[in-house]
Amino acid sequence: MEFTFKSIGLIHSPFTEKDKTPIQASRSQVVGRVEVYPEFADGLKDIDALSHIYVFYVFHESQGYKLQVKPFLDDTEHGIFATRYPYRPNPIGFSIVKLLSREGSTLTVEGIDMLDGTPLLDIKPYVPDFDLRTGVRAGWYETRSKK
Ligand SMILES: C[S@@+](CC[C@H](N)C(=O)[O-])C[C@H]1O[C@@H](n2cnc3c(N)ncnc32)[C@H](O)[C@@H]1O
Repeated sequence: MEFTFKSIGLIHSPFTEKDKTPIQASRSQVVGRVEVYPEFADGLKDIDALSHIYVFYVFHESQGYKLQVKPFLDDTEHGIFATRYPYRPNPIGFSIVKLLSREGSTLTVEGIDMLDGTPLLDIKPYVPDFDLRTGVRAGWYETRSKK
């Protein structure tokens, strides 16, 4: 099956170079803006009450992929689907960011790990009741060679 997605907005970030961009939102205190296009602005109702949101986006500057990769945090190869590596068959990324404020249909957020101009696909609430897990095993992330 093939799908065509239309971006619903744009992510504004201070980062223009991949290798100077934080590797995870949880490791980034960098502030940026998530601009939602006006035709989707009504979908932001009630978002102000959330402290954290998921943003889903396209790694629009990733071309091609390999099924086994050496991710940023390790020196050995892992299957692409066991990593967050940005070169993927479907180049979709997501980050949990802190929602600082909203001005119209633009959200100011903390935790930027995306390039400037990254196309926005979706926004969803971070809900501890749904999303927090116990008894987690993080596989190679627990034995990785880099911190
Ligand atoms: C390891 S990925 C993690 C992204 C996201 N938090 C995730 O888990 O899907 C973060 C890296 O992707 C790269 N990146 C960020 N935005 C990108 C974009 N729009 N196109 C291509 N690569 C991007 C940067 O090198 C950044 O350090």
